[in-house]
Amino acid sequence: MTKAMTIIRAEHRAIGAVLKGLLGVVAEIEAGNREPDFRLIDAMVHYIEAMPETLHHPKEDEYLYAALADRTEDQKPLLDEIHAEHGAGREIGRDLIASLLAYRVQGASALAPFAAAVRAYTELQWTHMRKEEEILLPLAERLLSASDWAAVDAAFEANDEARLEPEKRKAFRELFRRLAALTPAPFGLGD
Ligand SMILES: [Fe+2]
Ligand SMILES: [Fe+2]
Repeated sequence: MTKAMTIIRAEHRAIGAVLKGLLGVVAEIEAGNREPDFRLIDAMVHYIEAMPETLHHPKEDEYLYAALADRTEDQKPLLDEIHAEHGAGREIGRDLIASLLAYRVQGASALAPFAAAVRAYTELQWTHMRKEEEILLPLAERLLSASDWAAVDAAFEANDEARLEPEKRKAFRELFRRLAALTPAPFGLGD
């Protein structure tokens, strides 16, 4: 597997793990089994919103899907769909943050809309990541040449360095580790 694909899959796993943890925590609060721990919930929401926006989607759009668009005309509708999902994720991410703020201020009466926003965001991201892994990545594997992949791999590596200072990249890794430590069983994030 190419370096770029390995990075994409690893980032999907990290985002997916935090989404699953957040869904579990919200369900426990709804069931009355847990009080909200906003230190944990804030950190989770920050991770699942900022990680795709800052690190993940820009790489996909600007390098991998751009290379794919150069190799195929036929797949334009699919690529348009994927770009549109990135945009939708941004908007639903904003709703998620707004509903979390409302929940923090209003308390239990604003839990239901926050839980609904978490579910809507999770559904969108899961469907999107599944589509990328099942359709887009295999398509890229078929259509991109070795030199295309070499360029995409190099761009992926350079991208993270250019887009985020080392401290910020480290901060994302730290945040994931902290979340893994804070997330209660059985919603643990694993590695
Ligand atoms: Fe994506
Ligand atoms: Fe992705």
